[in-house]
Amino acid sequence: MSGKFYITTPIYYVNDRPHIGHAYTTILADVLARFHRSLGHDTFFLTGTDEHGQKVQNAAEKRGVAPLQHCDETVVRFQELWKRLGITNDRFIRTTQAEHKRVVSEIMQELYDRGEIYKADYTGWYCVGCERFFTEKDLVDGKCPDCGRDVNAITESNYFFRMSKYQDWLIGHIKSNPEFILPAFRANETLGFLKKPLGDLCISRPKSRLSWGIELPFDKDYVCYVWFDALINYISGVGYRTDADNFANRWPASCHLIGKDILTTHSVYWPTMLKAMGLPMPKTIFAHGWWLTGNSKMSKSLGNVVNPMDMIDRAGVDAFRYFLLAEMSPGNDANFSEDAFIARYNSDLANDLGNLLSRVSKLTVRATGGVIPEPVESGDGDAELAQAVADAVAAMEESLRSFKLDQGINAAMNAVRAGNRYLEKCAPWTLAKEGKTARLHTVLHNAADAICRVAVLLEPVMPEKMTELLGVLGVAPGTIAGISALSGFKSVAGCVMKETTPLFPRIIVEEETPAPAAKAEKKGEKKTEKTVPAAAVEPVGLVTIDQFFQTKLKTARVLAAEKVEGADKLLKLQIEVGSETRQLVAGVAQFYTPDEIVGKTIVIVANLKPAKIRGIESQGMLLAAKDGKNLKLVTVDGTMPSGVEIG
Ligand code: ME8
Ligand code: MG
Repeated sequence: MSGKFYITTPIYYVNDRPHIGHAYTTILADVLARFHRSLGHDTFFLTGTDEHGQKVQNAAEKRGVAPLQHCDETVVRFQELWKRLGITNDRFIRTTQAEHKRVVSEIMQELYDRGEIYKADYTGWYCVGCERFFTEKDLVDGKCPDCGRDVNAITESNYFFRMSKYQDWLIGHIKSNPEFILPAFRANETLGFLKKPLGDLCISRPKSRLSWGIELPFDKDYVCYVWFDALINYISGVGYRTDADNFANRWPASCHLIGKDILTTHSVYWPTMLKAMGLPMPKTIFAHGWWLTGNSKMSKSLGNVVNPMDMIDRAGVDAFRYFLLAEMSPGNDANFSEDAFIARYNSDLANDLGNLLSRVSKLTVRATGGVIPEPVESGDGDAELAQAVADAVAAMEESLRSFKLDQGINAAMNAVRAGNRYLEKCAPWTLAKEGKTARLHTVLHNAADAICRVAVLLEPVMPEKMTELLGVLGVAPGTIAGISALSGFKSVAGCVMKETTPLFPRIIVEEETPAPAAKAEKKGEKKTEKTVPAAAVEPVGLVTIDQFFQTKLKTARVLAAEKVEGADKLLKLQIEVGSETRQLVAGVAQFYTPDEIVGKTIVIVANLKPAKIRGIESQGMLLAAKDGKNLKLVTVDGTMPSGVEIG
C-alpha cells in the first residue's frame, strides 16, 4: 500500500433523508479511512451533498423557498447524522459552494474551447426522478430503464461532451487495470455496456426548463447537467484549479466508493471526463450492492426506508456500524431486518465478544486483583488461539486491500470465538480451584492478549466501544497505534484489568403471543429492553449435550396439507413419522401452499407435548428458518425415510 489514501463517497442528493443505504457507504468509507490513518497513511476522506438539479428545484418551489435556502435547511440532516455516527470526513463538500461552481465553470470553458464540447439538436427521453436523459433504445417498455417511471420526450438544442471518442481508450483502460472497477464482475458489467457504441453526453439543460444549476460560461441560456457538475466534486474537493499543491498531493483518488446504482456514471462518464481534462484515473471505483428490505431496494421513492436513528437509539452507534459492515458482503446485496440486527448483536457482540471480556476480567480480578500475569506454563490450546488471532490480523489486512471488510470482521469474530473455546478447554475456573497457578496465569494472559488484539482490529469499526474495551484491559489509549503496531506489541502482561459491566448488554425481545386476538392488540409494539447478563464466569447460554438430546428431532414426510379455516397463517398437516401418522398445525401458510409442502421431508420436534392450536390437535412442531419476512422449512439433504432420528 502506498503512503497515501484518498477515499470518497458519492455526494448524496441533498433532498433525500439519509437512510441506512447512505449510512452504509459513509461508514464503510469511514472505517477504511480510520484504518489507513492508523497505518500512518496520509489520508483524506471526502463526502458531501449534490445540490443542483430538477428535484431540488421542484422541492424548493413546492415549499415556496429559494433553492439554496432549501439546501441549507436539508443538508444538516446529513451533517448531523455523520456527526452522530462518528464519521471522520476531512471535508464536507456542497456543490453550491462558490469554489466548486467556479471549478466546474472553468472546466466547461476549457473543454468548450478545445472542441470537446459542442452544440447540437437533441431528441431524447427524460426521467425527472433520475435526472437522466435516455435514447429511445435505452427505454424499457417505454419507461425509465433505471426506475421504471414515466419519461418525457424532449427536443431541444443542447451542449454535448464528446464522450464517444474515448470509448476504445476506456475499454483498454478497464482491461489493463484489473483494480480500476471492483468487484471484477462490475468491470465486466461496464465492458458489456461498452459493447454498444457510446454516445456523446448531453451536459446542458436550457434554463427555460431548469434554472437551478451552474450556468454555462459560454451560453447564459443554459445550466450544467447535474451529473457533470456532481462528479467534478471529487477533484474540486481537493483543490483542482484552486490549490495546486493540495491537488497534486491528493489526486488521483485511491477509491471512489459507490453503490451499484451509479456504476455507469462513475465507470463511464467520469473516466472519459477526466481523460478529456488530461487527468490521471482514480485507482479504484468500488461499487457495493444494495440494502434491501424484503426484496426491494431501500429507497425513498419506494417508501421502505429504515431510519438509522431508530437503530442507533436502540443499540448504540458502534453496534450499528458493526452490523452494517459485518452483515453486507460489499459485492452483493444484503437484507436489512430488525430481527437480523438484534440476532447478530446478541450473538456476536453481547454473547461472543462481551462474554469473553467479562469472563476474563472477572477471573483475572479474582486471581491476581486485576494484574494481567506473565505467561508461565504453556499448554494445550495456546497455539490454536494464537493462530486464530494471527489469521484475523492477516484477514483484516487483506480486507483493507479488497475493500471487503466483512471478511476481516468475520475473522476477528472467529478469533473471539476461539477465545471462548480456549476458556472452555483450559477451564481456568478449575485451574484456580485446583491451585494450578502457573497454567492459570498463562491462560488468563493469552485470553486477555487475544481480546486486546481483536479490539485493535475492530477499533476502526467500533471506535468508542473498543477504546472502552482496551480501557477495561488496562491498555492506555495510544499504546497500540493500530493494526500495523500489533506485530511490535509484546503483550498485555502487566496491564491492570478492571472488572467490567457488560460492554454490549443483551437486547431481549419479548416474543409476541401467537394468539391472533392478543397479537392484534400488541401490533407494532414489540417490547425490547436491555438487561444486564448474569455474572458470566461460567459459560452462559450453553447447553450440555444431554440437555440438547432431551429434544427428539426426527424426519417426517408430509402426506397431506390443508388451510385452517379462519386462520390465514396456519396449515394443518398429516405427517408420516416412521410407522405412525400424526397431525401437526404449523404457521407456514403464508410461505407454503398445501401443494408445495406435500411430499417434503421435514424436521420435527417429535417429543413436544401435544397442544391445541385453534381447537385443532397438534402433535409436534416443525422446524423452519425465519428472518422476519421469509420462512424456509428445515429439510434434509438428499433422501431419508421418515421417523429417522436427528442429532
Ligand atoms: O446518486 N443500499 O445520490 P443518492 C446501499 N447524487 N446503498 C445505498 C442505497 C441502498 N439501498 N441507497 C443509497 C446520487 N445508497 C448522486 C451521486 S456522486 C458524484 C453523485 C448509497 O443520494 C449508495 O452509495 O441517490 C448509492 O450509490 C448512493 O447512496 C446514492 O445516493
Ligand atoms: Mg439515488
